[in-house]
Amino acid sequence: MKDISEIRSDFPILGRKVYGKALVYFDNGATTQKPQCVIDAVNEILTQKNGNIHRGVHYLSDMASEAYENARQKVASFINASKKEEIVFTSGTTGSINALAFSFGEKYVKEGDEIIVSHLEHHANIVPWQMLCERKGALLKVIPVNQSGELLLDEYYRLLSPRTRIVAVTQASNALGTVTPLREIIDAAHAVNVPVLVDGAQGIQHGIVDVRQLDCDFYAFSGHKIYGPTGIGVLYGKENLLNDLPPYQGGGDMVEKVTFEKTTYNQLPFKFEAGTMNYAGAAGLGTALDYVSSLGREDIALREKELLRYATQKLSSTDRVRIFGNSSNKISTISFLIEGIHQYDTGMVLDKMGIAVRTGTHCAQPVMDFYGIEGTVRASMCFYNTFDEIDALVAGIEQVKKMF
Ligand code: ALA
Repeated sequence: MKDISEIRSDFPILGRKVYGKALVYFDNGATTQKPQCVIDAVNEILTQKNGNIHRGVHYLSDMASEAYENARQKVASFINASKKEEIVFTSGTTGSINALAFSFGEKYVKEGDEIIVSHLEHHANIVPWQMLCERKGALLKVIPVNQSGELLLDEYYRLLSPRTRIVAVTQASNALGTVTPLREIIDAAHAVNVPVLVDGAQGIQHGIVDVRQLDCDFYAFSGHKIYGPTGIGVLYGKENLLNDLPPYQGGGDMVEKVTFEKTTYNQLPFKFEAGTMNYAGAAGLGTALDYVSSLGREDIALREKELLRYATQKLSSTDRVRIFGNSSNKISTISFLIEGIHQYDTGMVLDKMGIAVRTGTHCAQPVMDFYGIEGTVRASMCFYNTFDEIDALVAGIEQVKKMF
């Protein structure tokens, strides 16, 4: 892997100051910062190649379409999909899950059917399924967790029933960092012919994702959490499953032939891409994936494990700090509270020191309810963070304790 100072210099924002202090950015779970190459890729589309994709015979439209389809191929290779037609671009993980919940629900879910999610889910992998359940009279079943924030697999096996239509589960908890046992979850679902959606929003940026090896049926992730732009995301689906699903939005590009009597739909993946897509964002995402690959995904995972180990050791030996989520398999995210101090107060004081953390429920209220708390402070780290920054966080916590 490149030297850490070289890596950091790829990200212009990491050099800036906040309130006159060096920025310490520990909110990578919410969004990651962008390397210059991603900024340049988006800039290149907007300044040199801007034309609406798949719609023109002119040069600029061709250039933009080529960049967009190249990005699709890059995504397919990055997650090892069998072909690029299995990659549907969306606005992000939330867009992907809503699309699937609607489309899959229209076709396959009826009154009395069951959908399984886990207690660790982000609201984006709860609410779309709840909305579907309300529309159809279906039931949402929840895989419980233990005090360490790990899923209880035996309970999951018991939840699988002849009425289960789909299992939708996160790869890693955004609130606690827990990495879920996808192998066991997918194998058990497949044993009873139930497809599985993996919410990879907090997974894909921390290691290697191979959808064919995993054998998940659907996989969703966001561009902006893997060093790409906002407003672009991916829904991967196995070709035969995507082919069987109805489109979830109507409009331009998703059609084959339109008459007032009947419309026939375009082939994959365009059937699911109505309207003008975010081609500049897609190009940026493709470049972000190239960047991540150039650093080495195994090296990224190793570095982030070291950061997690160091931060866990430091924070767990800090007086009055309680960490939530102690699974032995975690992404580099630590949720904590300082005893007797509200998470917002901690977050605001840290912010004034230039340290960006996220506070609150992290859009995962059921996780907070499980622990009987209103929220936590979350430090979500990635490969460009340093051990010195972790020391700065610990020093910041000491300051917070003195102030309250
Ligand atoms: N889902 C994002 C997070 O965990 C926004 O912060």
